Amino acid sequence: MSTAQTPTDVSASAYEERLFEQIASDLLTNGYSICPGALPNSLGSKICEQLYGLESTDFSAAGIGRQAQYMHNEFVRTDRICWFTGETPTGRHWLDWAERLKEYLNRRLFMGLFSFESHLAHYGPGDFYKRHYDAFRNQRSRILSMVVYLNPSWGAEDGGELVLYLNDADKQGIKVTPLMGTMVLFLSEEFPHEVLPARKDRYSIAGWYRINSTTAERVDPPR
Ligand code: OGA
Ligand code: MN
Repeated sequence: MSTAQTPTDVSASAYEERLFEQIASDLLTNGYSICPGALPNSLGSKICEQLYGLESTDFSAAGIGRQAQYMHNEFVRTDRICWFTGETPTGRHWLDWAERLKEYLNRRLFMGLFSFESHLAHYGPGDFYKRHYDAFRNQRSRILSMVVYLNPSWGAEDGGELVLYLNDADKQGIKVTPLMGTMVLFLSEEFPHEVLPARKDRYSIAGWYRINSTTAERVDPPR
């Protein structure tokens, strides 16, 4: 027996398919993709509802590095983060969406993406994240980075833009306004980027797809 789809299901999945294809073809030609209005409204508003219900104690100071090398460094970044664990229906819904994108990219681009980790980030006024890479060559952990913005309004005077640099030598970069629904994806080892100081509260989701680099000596990713 086939399961019946309502017209909204059909258009939502057709919309999703078009978006995923756009992301895949951008990644193939440029190594990055910037998509305004990509996050489905229904999912975006659920995530915002959950966000507004969080206490400041649900967020913790963000760090840099991994596992044994992990440390806090307020010269590099000053945002605060809250990991998605999939324990709430909304968190699950977001991780499922990211899983469908992963499957699409693996099918279309043979990327071999294996796991996904994601957190909410809050930048208060004055907060920033200096120019950095999300992964280092040869470490092969984080392969594809994703950022999605959750700010219903954002003006030029609010600062807080993401600047995506095309390579080490690029000083100008591409500035992205952190406006609700805009999604940015880029190859983690290829694109240095930074978050300019925000002048008001700035909310985003960051996520990373990793390959499975487990060896006999080391389980990686650890979960
Ligand atoms: C990060 C990051 C960018 C942003 O969390 O690694 O680069 O625009 N975030 O929030
Ligand atoms: Mn980053």
